[in-house]
Amino acid sequence: MSAVSKTFHVTTFGCQMNEHDSERMKGMLVALGYAETAEQQEAELILFNTCSIREKADSRFISYLQLAASYKRRNPEIVIGVGGCWAQSVKEDVFRQFPYVDVAFGPGQVHKLAEFLTSDSLTAQGFFEFEGFTGHLPSARARDFQGWVQISAGCNMKCSYCIVPATRGRQVDRPLEELVAEVREMVDAGVAEVTLLGQNVNAYGRAVRGGSRSSFAALLHELDAIDGLRRVRYTSPHPQDMTEDVVRAHADLASVCPHMHLPLQSGSSRILKAMRRTYSRERFADRVALIREHNPDIALTTDIIIGFPGETEADFAETLEVCEEVGFDGAFTFIYSPRRETEAAELVGDFVPHEVSVERMDRLVEVVQRRALERSQRFVGRTLDVLVEGPSRTDPSRLRGRSGHGKTVNFSGLAEAGEIVPVQITGATSQTLAGEMSLLARALV
Ligand code: SAH
Ligand code: SF4
Ligand code: F3S
Repeated sequence: MSAVSKTFHVTTFGCQMNEHDSERMKGMLVALGYAETAEQQEAELILFNTCSIREKADSRFISYLQLAASYKRRNPEIVIGVGGCWAQSVKEDVFRQFPYVDVAFGPGQVHKLAEFLTSDSLTAQGFFEFEGFTGHLPSARARDFQGWVQISAGCNMKCSYCIVPATRGRQVDRPLEELVAEVREMVDAGVAEVTLLGQNVNAYGRAVRGGSRSSFAALLHELDAIDGLRRVRYTSPHPQDMTEDVVRAHADLASVCPHMHLPLQSGSSRILKAMRRTYSRERFADRVALIREHNPDIALTTDIIIGFPGETEADFAETLEVCEEVGFDGAFTFIYSPRRETEAAELVGDFVPHEVSVERMDRLVEVVQRRALERSQRFVGRTLDVLVEGPSRTDPSRLRGRSGHGKTVNFSGLAEAGEIVPVQITGATSQTLAGEMSLLARALV
């Protein structure tokens, strides 16, 4: 069966970790002799890399899966594989619920897909151990000049709303030397910007497998020393582990971008406690003060959950206050979604009615966007280095790229994707910047 499957298609849901895992999956399949096809209908191997962070992620995926099942009814030779966090959270149950699925594997088991495809087995197979890093597999990068580096797998935190510890297991870090070697190779292959990935990325170094203990700041220093590496980003850090050495690394190391995504989740210490976030409103404010003391111009973005069980109007008002006070450069805002096997999902009696959450969301978005718009005005009139990503999405005669602050910049000019060019900023919305490539400044670079 599998021996005749030569074309594949992967649909990816979820976070950057999944994007990265999918690149590894594709790299592995190409190494096995498979060819990627842009159309799912044409693929003999249809794969899904799934997410389960919120209920919406689940339902979106199921509708995709049902479409793939309809292709398989027409052509029973098609192999359907389901990987990632949703697969991990339902495990063997997937074969009962969706009998047309041939292979299922959790996030730590991408490499087992190869085992399945090269085996003679005709029966459905599931692989759900936590053991592997996809970082060891070959990668098919979406862009030549940007790359992801998975520095750790899993998460040791116990945020009461979150399914990730159940889907990705305990934290395991890769040895520092291995990461440095991987990034060196990427830079030699033309990568200018890397994004370090971990669920609690700044806790890196305490759970190194097959190597000595290290720290996130030490890793940043080692990477900054690599010739030709222009930008280092990372996601997501936890406020608990945002130590002064990491904060200083932003100020001291040229390659570490002036952007930090620091999830707040709630501005109410009472709710933060119920979320098991391990910091209070005051502690978060204290971290922000430290970060800004060393990096006055840094862009701060965040994640916020509203409608966590038991969240009162007074709790929510505190979240609004923190957003006013901090002035984030951007925020992802989510309505709480109860997840199976999580502590908060048991708090059924305290659920916030959906219409209350929706109304709170509107108020939150107003504050977040207003503050982001105010903050982004500081860039107008300045010249920023922009990593060119391609043509602008709204106007193909212009270019699109990202500043070190993580802002999308649409600008006029002539440059190739992958170049870092100076752009004079002429306008700013809450989300994006507009500008013109500065030819004079470019001549001086
Ligand atoms: N490990 C990262 C990312 C976790 S998932 C971190 O800790 O920041 C990304 C975001 O999804 C979280 O920061 C949180 O804001 C949101 N999220 C996670 N579980 C959720 C749930 N059950 N309901 C709503 N939002 C959730
Ligand atoms: Fe989930 Fe919390 Fe771990 Fe992030 S730190 S992955 S929110 S448990
Ligand atoms: Fe989703 Fe798993 Fe990422 S649940 S957000 S794909 S870690």
